[in-house]
Amino acid sequence: MALRWKNTLKDHHVTDEAAFLNRRQLMGGAAAGVGLASMGAGAGFAAGETLEPSAYEDITQYNNFYEFGTGKDDPARYAGDLTTKPWSVEIGGMVDKPGRYAFEDILKAMTIEERIYRFRCVEAWSMVVPWNGFELADLLDMAGVQSGAKYVAFETAVLPDEMPGVRFPVLDWPYVEGLRLDEAMHPLTMMATGIYGKDIPNQNGAPLRLVVPWKYGFKSIKSIVKITLTDTQPPTSWNKANAREYGFYSNVNPELDHPRWSQASERVVGGGLFAKRIPTLKLNGYEEEVGSLYADMTLQETF
Ligand code: MTE
Repeated sequence: MALRWKNTLKDHHVTDEAAFLNRRQLMGGAAAGVGLASMGAGAGFAAGETLEPSAYEDITQYNNFYEFGTGKDDPARYAGDLTTKPWSVEIGGMVDKPGRYAFEDILKAMTIEERIYRFRCVEAWSMVVPWNGFELADLLDMAGVQSGAKYVAFETAVLPDEMPGVRFPVLDWPYVEGLRLDEAMHPLTMMATGIYGKDIPNQNGAPLRLVVPWKYGFKSIKSIVKITLTDTQPPTSWNKANAREYGFYSNVNPELDHPRWSQASERVVGGGLFAKRIPTLKLNGYEEEVGSLYADMTLQETF
């Protein structure tokens, strides 16, 4: 897989490479042998500011993946059983080339890049994750989006033998999510296949999961098996579970509190005794990049 950088993000958004490489070496050569250049980028913060990625251990041991249980450590404990090879993604609906795409074939057609994004859960905790992956737009282009398509629907695998959580009706399985087509085609929207230069661990959504950095984390659906282009807004799991608390858009917004807690600040995961709270940024700090997508909408409408 060749490395490409599209330069969609500005120079000052690129994380200090030396600091990041240093960090990776400290991690025991996590990126060794992967053949990726270090081109981390995190958008949406002031010039000169760098995003310090969270520790690999925090990113991979403090998770939400209800198919494996509702505890933060359940995914790391139980997701090891998930069979991710072979894997395929069924792409259908309003596309020119519907079909079942083998994960290997998708990877061959895509260019893997590395991006460092803020990640903000609706539960008011956050991390900074160095993802590897490709732009969702490239995958959708491969399938050929037909004119008239307005939304993209996503679906996670349901494997009761391997996912202990789906034996309980915690959510209406399969986990489903959706984006407006322009959100899906935005260059910040990616399909992640790795973290810190290694294959993405099962608990983080192997072998491929969505990452939409300006939305609450639950929009970033894991272990995707189905993508459907439609002209109607698709149902989404958390909205189905509690429409009053979780909207379709779910853009990060410090000015719009969750009915049961404030969204004005967030707890930075990791750091132990030094764990801190920081102010939450509008659109998670990506307002410059994606604010125009919501120019015609009110605060309440992007809930
Ligand atoms: N995708 C599926 N299929 N099932 C889930 O339970 N949890 C969501 C999201 N994607 C979830 C999911 C939530 S609430 C969050 S915050 C993120 O995954 C957590 O991603 P992480 O564990 O990689 O930090």
